[in-house]
Amino acid sequence: MTKIRLKDLKRKKKNNEKAVLITAYDYSTAKILDKCNVDIVLMGDSSAMVMLGYESTIEISLSEIIMLSKAVRRGLTNPYFIVDMPFLSYQPSEEEAIKNCGKVLKETKCDCVKMEGDLDFIDIIKSVINVGIPVCGHIGMTPQKFKLYNGYPIKGKTAKEAKNIIESAIALENAGIVMLIIENIPDEISSYITKILKIPVYTIGSGINCDGQIIVYHDILDLFEDFKPRFIKIYDHIGEKIKKAVNKYSLDVQQGKFPQKSKTPHLKFKEKQKLRKIFPDF
Ligand code: KIV
Repeated sequence: MTKIRLKDLKRKKKNNEKAVLITAYDYSTAKILDKCNVDIVLMGDSSAMVMLGYESTIEISLSEIIMLSKAVRRGLTNPYFIVDMPFLSYQPSEEEAIKNCGKVLKETKCDCVKMEGDLDFIDIIKSVINVGIPVCGHIGMTPQKFKLYNGYPIKGKTAKEAKNIIESAIALENAGIVMLIIENIPDEISSYITKILKIPVYTIGSGINCDGQIIVYHDILDLFEDFKPRFIKIYDHIGEKIKKAVNKYSLDVQQGKFPQKSKTPHLKFKEKQKLRKIFPDF
C-alpha cells in the first residue's frame, strides 16, 4: 500500500469507489491498521469515552488529544490521518481556533483537522482554512452537542432541519473544507449531499450512499462495553477473545505452567558454585 493523499480520495469519489475510514487511538492499533485496506484513520474525540473512560467527548482536553494523536502518528505510514479538535478548542473565537488547530497540525503531523460545526461556525472554519490548515467538516448529529441534544439523536428528520444540514454542507464546501463527515442523518439527505458536493463525503450512521464509511474501531470489534451505536455491525468479538486469553494466562500462572521451563534463564554451574561460597544456603 502507498501513502494515501487527498487527490487519491478525490479520485475515489470520481470513480465511485468507496473509501474506508476507521478510528485509532494508540500506536499498536495504528500499526495494525497501517497494514489493512484502510484509506483514512481518524484520531477521534470518541477516544474520550473509549480510551479514557469519560462520559462524553466534551471532557477530553487538547493535550490529551495531542498525546494520543502523536502515538497514532508514530504507527501510521500509509492512511490519510485526521485529528479531531476537542470541545472548546475552536468554538470560542477565530484566534483560538487558528492557534489550536495550528498546534494540532504541527505537533501531531496530521493531514487535516476535523471540526464539528454547521452554518454557525463557517467564519471560524474559514479563518482556519485561510491560514493554510486543511479541515474536515463534521455535521448532522455532532456529539460535542450531546448535552444540548440530550443524547445522540438522528438529525435532519424534518425538512427544516434537513435544509439547515444541506445548506451547512454547501457553505462548508464553499469555505474550502477538504472533506466532510456527516453523522446520524436520514439516507435521503446524506445521498443528496454526497451527490451535490465535489469534495468527498463520508458518513457514520447515515446509510450506504456516501463516498465512504467511518466507524469506531472498538465498536466493530466489540471492544467497548458501555455503548453500542444503533447502526453498528460487529465483525468479531475481540473483547470476549481477550477475556478468554487472559483467563487462560491466569490459570497457567495459578497452575505453575507459566512461564515455560524452556524460556526460563538459568545460572551456569560455575557461577552457582561461586554464589554458594558467599551464601552457603544458596
Ligand atoms: O470521534 C469520532 O470517533 C468521530 C467519528 C466517529 C466520526 O468523530
